[in-house]
Amino acid sequence: MLAQLPPMGWNSWNTFGHNINEQVVRDTADAIVNLGLKDVGYEYVVIDDCWSLRERDENGRMVADPEKFPSGMKALADYVHSKGLKFGMYSCAGTRTCAGYPGSFDYEFIDAKTFADWGVDFLKYDFCYKPRLAPGPILYNRMGMALKASGREILFSACNWGSDEVEKWIRSTGAHMYRSTGDVNDSFRSFKEIAMSQVDKLGYSGPGCYNDIDMLICGMHGKGNVANGGCTDTEYKVHFALWCLFQSPLMIGSDLSVCNEYNLELMKNKELIAINQDPEARPPMLVNGDRERPIFFKHLANGEYVLAFFNFTDHASDGTWGATCEFYDFGLTANSGYGLHLRDIFTGEDIGLKTEYMNVRVESHDCVIYRGTLEKR
Ligand code: GAL
Repeated sequence: MLAQLPPMGWNSWNTFGHNINEQVVRDTADAIVNLGLKDVGYEYVVIDDCWSLRERDENGRMVADPEKFPSGMKALADYVHSKGLKFGMYSCAGTRTCAGYPGSFDYEFIDAKTFADWGVDFLKYDFCYKPRLAPGPILYNRMGMALKASGREILFSACNWGSDEVEKWIRSTGAHMYRSTGDVNDSFRSFKEIAMSQVDKLGYSGPGCYNDIDMLICGMHGKGNVANGGCTDTEYKVHFALWCLFQSPLMIGSDLSVCNEYNLELMKNKELIAINQDPEARPPMLVNGDRERPIFFKHLANGEYVLAFFNFTDHASDGTWGATCEFYDFGLTANSGYGLHLRDIFTGEDIGLKTEYMNVRVESHDCVIYRGTLEKR
């Protein structure tokens, strides 16, 4: 079964936009292996928009742009597969893609077959140029069926930016993940707003179909197709931590040939990835109701818990200002006889048994994340 856990991989859009070509894809596949990203779970190498010619061929089939992809998509898929990775592509539920290339509207079964013939394992499916009266659920279901009929197992990645209350119907179309927001750009404000917009909708996300809060911007540092000033390394840490806590698919968006060591290590952080890949996929609870200094509590499948403190404000928060976590706010009262025995997942430090409340200092635009178990006090 596909997408039992949040899918992990790389997508071309955030950095390369329309400047995508087969060399970039090959180099990225090599990098995913050589940098140890494959070892921690990154698997899908996905080409986003702008890969095709502007017109279909005489049989109605989409054609890869021969200047960008001189060896053809089948050869490229073979290369990606030879690295032990999976190959992804992109189309759109409307008549054209967002960048104006042919979309799959009314060509769904032909296109799904074409993708299967090329060896595609993942299809991102966008929502531009959709006929106004054609309902999204039907269009996604049509492609969902077309992929099933294609003869190949293809992960179906829906991208309608959260419109039409997508979380309520997308599972019924066979999709394995679904974009729930508009596009991320490379700024703190962008990823913060995207993540916080989904806090109340994560209950719909789970094994088989995950809420996708967009590709990662970690390590982009203000360069690339979605550039918008960039983030500090610590801000990228906050970004990655939120994506892991929310169990979003993890699709790297940076150029791996220039991504710095900090961000490579961050995206390989085993503690965070373990939270992202937790098999029960239970949504975190917003404990303190504060959306600028949110504190989240989350169950893990092995019986442990995550307690995560974020600070989106411009000031450090400490016990007197915002970062007090009252344990009764998530149900652990003094009378329970229990506290939480916690470990800081970034430093590895065992901070011991905490009871009733915690004051945690969190620097501006930073986070502190603990993992631990209930323990008798
Ligand atoms: C947007 C989508 C982006 C990217 C872009 C390509 O609709 O949200 O992730 O795929 O189209 O044109």
